[in-house]
Amino acid sequence: MSNGVAVSIQRTVKITVNGSEFTAPEGSTILQACRSEGLEIPTLCYLENLTPVNTCRLCMVEVQGSRTLVPSCSRKIEPGMVVNTESDRVQASRKMVLELLASSVDMSIVSDELSEWMERHQVDKERFGPQALPAQLGERETTHAGHHVRGDGTLAATVFEPVKIDNDQYVRDYSRCVLCYRCVEACGTDAQNTFAIALGGRGFEAHITTEYDVPLPESACVYCGNCVAVCPTNALMFKIEHDMRQAQTWDESRQTLTRTICPYCGVGCNLEIHAQDNKIVKVTSPLDHDVTSGMLCVKGRFGFEFINS
Ligand code: SF4
Ligand code: SF4
Ligand code: FES
Repeated sequence: MSNGVAVSIQRTVKITVNGSEFTAPEGSTILQACRSEGLEIPTLCYLENLTPVNTCRLCMVEVQGSRTLVPSCSRKIEPGMVVNTESDRVQASRKMVLELLASSVDMSIVSDELSEWMERHQVDKERFGPQALPAQLGERETTHAGHHVRGDGTLAATVFEPVKIDNDQYVRDYSRCVLCYRCVEACGTDAQNTFAIALGGRGFEAHITTEYDVPLPESACVYCGNCVAVCPTNALMFKIEHDMRQAQTWDESRQTLTRTICPYCGVGCNLEIHAQDNKIVKVTSPLDHDVTSGMLCVKGRFGFEFINS
């Protein structure tokens, strides 16, 4: 306190990353400190509006004195920390994580960011053998994502299962799920507090599911679509987009993006209206908006059909 004016002092910590020394606010993670300096580190389960869950291990970096690589999305910086984000060991780890995921999961329409990282690391999707086709998986219980029959080693087992279409708002294609838990976080304490979806099973059989695996309309889901908004692989996809992709009419190059305010209530959520051929095809919300942080309710997310009427 000075002359009656409160002064808040932000302590900083000095660290060295890839040979360059800089300071960052105390309490920052390695990822936040690096991004504030324009240094890129790939992430998958991390999203700035969600609590880090440390599941994917794509963001690992080398810290001097640490026997193992550390997850940059959750590890806090410490004074004098020496970090390497680009060493051969780090690059090999990233490539391996992406190749292991791509061996069992359909990663053909992942987010642009993830797709760019895969390209940059020259990810070989068939490093562990070509993916087994559904018919080659043997007696697989397809109602449970992840269930598989042990193969002979020539084919990579996949988490294939049919797309779940049980409502008009969004579909669940768990053949594309990388188990990043972003959707679980968004449905839980990070945004929606609905807890309609969670992790079921263990090991290769781990999968995202509703309570007792019931269809969405019978679950606690309130159709806010926040899980869909955070999914990096399109395992969760809005029904309109899914139908248009099936009909081969989905074309992002022909879509416009208009930012506006939700008309339904006084909260003032920001909407991003994706339109194609003069029709709204998707509604998202910007992650950096201080009211919504990318999250919406069912009205803002799906209450636009009347406009197309
Ligand atoms: S739409 Fe909303 S309530 Fe339903 S599962 Fe997704 S996050 Fe949960
Ligand atoms: S459905 Fe999407 S958001 Fe949820 S765990 Fe799978 S990949 Fe992540
Ligand atoms: S982004 Fe850090 S563990 Fe997934």
